[in-house]
Amino acid sequence: MRILSSDLKRHTDAMRAELESAIGRVLARGWYILGPEVEAFERQFARFCQVRASVSVANGTDALELALRALGVGARDQVATVANAGLYSTTAILAAGAEPLYVDVEPARMTMDPEALAAALSPRTKAIIVTHLYGQMAGLPGLLEVAQRAGAPLLEDCAQAHGAALGGRPAGSWGAAGCFSFYPTKNLGALGDGGAVVTSDPQLADRLRLLRQYGWTARFQSTLAGGRNSRLDELQAAVLAAKLPHLPGWNERRRAIARAYSEALRQAPLVLPASLGDDYVAHLYVVRTPHRDELKRALAQLGIGAEIHYPIPDYRQESIQSSLAPIRDLPVTEKCCREVLTLPCFPELSDPEVNLVIEAVRRFFENPSYAPSSNIHADPGLPDH
Ligand SMILES: Cc1ncc(COP(=O)(O)O)c(C=O)c1O
Repeated sequence: MRILSSDLKRHTDAMRAELESAIGRVLARGWYILGPEVEAFERQFARFCQVRASVSVANGTDALELALRALGVGARDQVATVANAGLYSTTAILAAGAEPLYVDVEPARMTMDPEALAAALSPRTKAIIVTHLYGQMAGLPGLLEVAQRAGAPLLEDCAQAHGAALGGRPAGSWGAAGCFSFYPTKNLGALGDGGAVVTSDPQLADRLRLLRQYGWTARFQSTLAGGRNSRLDELQAAVLAAKLPHLPGWNERRRAIARAYSEALRQAPLVLPASLGDDYVAHLYVVRTPHRDELKRALAQLGIGAEIHYPIPDYRQESIQSSLAPIRDLPVTEKCCREVLTLPCFPELSDPEVNLVIEAVRRFFENPSYAPSSNIHADPGLPDH
């Protein structure tokens, strides 16, 4: 038996009739770009996020880049971000012509540390991207306070946090704007690429609508610099509208799996996710151990797909070395990248499969040979770099 880290076939099989009906509606109409399906989905998604506007785009990286451009970020500006979130925000920052300013993360949530942000900010910092990593919302009250003091707008990267809420306020409704990806494996995923920026600032929304289509104010008349083609298509919008009503139930199932893991593994020598509340939608269930690689191998031998999100801090990626200014020490980021391991967690995972994963992890730690030469409770110390 194999347990995949995610299983999109199960996901689409379970709602095949609804998806076919949504796709059939678009085919019957014969209108494929920026039409009634996109308008309807944008309205529904804005309501879901409790904001005034949602502007759909082609993917989550474009959502971040166009949001930065709409905020006026450009050449010679710095944008604060974290380095443990898969290079997406860095890609968007560099595409907007700006420079990433890396800020360390809090050890429990693995999201941006407000104190580290306050220490890192400079007069060149024109915006802050806060990633709600793994579906865990960041410490927004503290981060917003620092951002407001610095006069820098805060963008939420909600690509892993559709439907999460902190103190009753949804992800995406806290900052100047929230950026979403609808990549197929996300909590709300299309059958291809997709993204959106949500905001309650009407001027920002207007600029985003121009930027996603060549800077056009009217057809073939471009008035806003920095625009290009980044549109969600009608087919994906229809699919997303069909899926959106299911999202709270899927998130609840993800959370139930996370609860089962955390309950069963609470005695294991692992750092477990910080929250099981509404501020965590269990996009990824990520544990930490200095024996990550051995555990991953042991699970793979049993047919269990455990992944590493993400192994390389952004500033160590070869492709961007020449674009970066010198980087300050980020010890928590380094440690996370060495120790994180993602266990399978998606709504269609069955209870027996969850139990198999739990048993496999337990057995790994019960076997005294798993860590022949080290004390697993010992902190491995700060990185040597
Ligand atoms: C945290 C985060 N931000 C941004 C993105 C970028 O989204 P996309 O792949 O749609 O460009 C992703 C996902 O892939 C992500 O996980």
